[in-house]
Amino acid sequence: MGTIIILSSSIRTGRKSHRVAEFIANVIQSDGVHQAEMHDLNHYRFPVFEERLKFLADPLPELLALSDAIRASVGVIIVAPEYNGSFPAALKNVLDVFTDEWKMKPIGLCAVSGGHFGGAQLLQSLQFTLWKVGAWVVPASFQVPFVDKTFKEDGSTEDTEGLKKRLKLLTDKLYWSIEANARMQEA
Ligand SMILES: Cc1cc2nc3c(=O)[nH]c(=O)nc-3n(C[C@H](O)[C@H](O)[C@H](O)COP(=O)(O)O)c2cc1C
Repeated sequence: MGTIIILSSSIRTGRKSHRVAEFIANVIQSDGVHQAEMHDLNHYRFPVFEERLKFLADPLPELLALSDAIRASVGVIIVAPEYNGSFPAALKNVLDVFTDEWKMKPIGLCAVSGGHFGGAQLLQSLQFTLWKVGAWVVPASFQVPFVDKTFKEDGSTEDTEGLKKRLKLLTDKLYWSIEANARMQEA
C-alpha cells in the first residue's frame, strides 16, 4: 500500500471543487488499495513562481514538504476547476516549480466545472503540460459538471453511487499504473 496525493488546486474564495477532492479522498480511503493524502494549494498559498525549486537558494519549508510528499507518493490525483478553458494559475505554479518530482509519476485527472462540460477543455491543456514535465497521465479522467448542484456546500451528494462508478474508471487505471510502476522499479 502506498500514498496517493489528492492535489486540490482551487484557491478561489468560495471554491467548490474542493468538495470533489474530499469525495475522491474518501473513496480512495474506502477502496483500501492505497491511502489518500490531501494536499490543498489553498493551504499552501505559494508565492507566484520565480524559479524551479532545485535552483532556489532558500526555498520555503512548505515547498520542500510538498516536494517530499510528491516524491514519496505512488501517484497523484489532480483536482482542477476550469478557468477560461484552462486550469488555475495556482496549479501551474506547482507544475513549474517541481521537476524530477513529476517524472513518470502516475497521475489521474479530475476536471470540475460549473457548466455542462465538466472541464473538458482544461483537460487538454493540463495533459499537455503534464506531458512536458514528464509525468505519466493515466488514460482516463473523472469529470464533474454542475459542481454546485452535484455536491452541496457540506460536501454531500445525492448521486454517490453514480459518481463512484465514474470515479472507478479513473482509479482502476491509476491503480494499474501504480502497480506497473512498482514492478518496473523491482525489475
Ligand atoms: C475565472 C473563472 C473562469 C471560468 N471559466 C470557465 C470555463 O471556461 N468553463 C466552465 O465550464 N466554467 C468556467 N468557470 C466556472 C467554474 O468552473 C466554476 O465556478 C467552478 O466552481 C470553479 O471551481 P472552484 O469553485 O473550485 O474555484 C469559470 C470560473 C472562474 C472563476
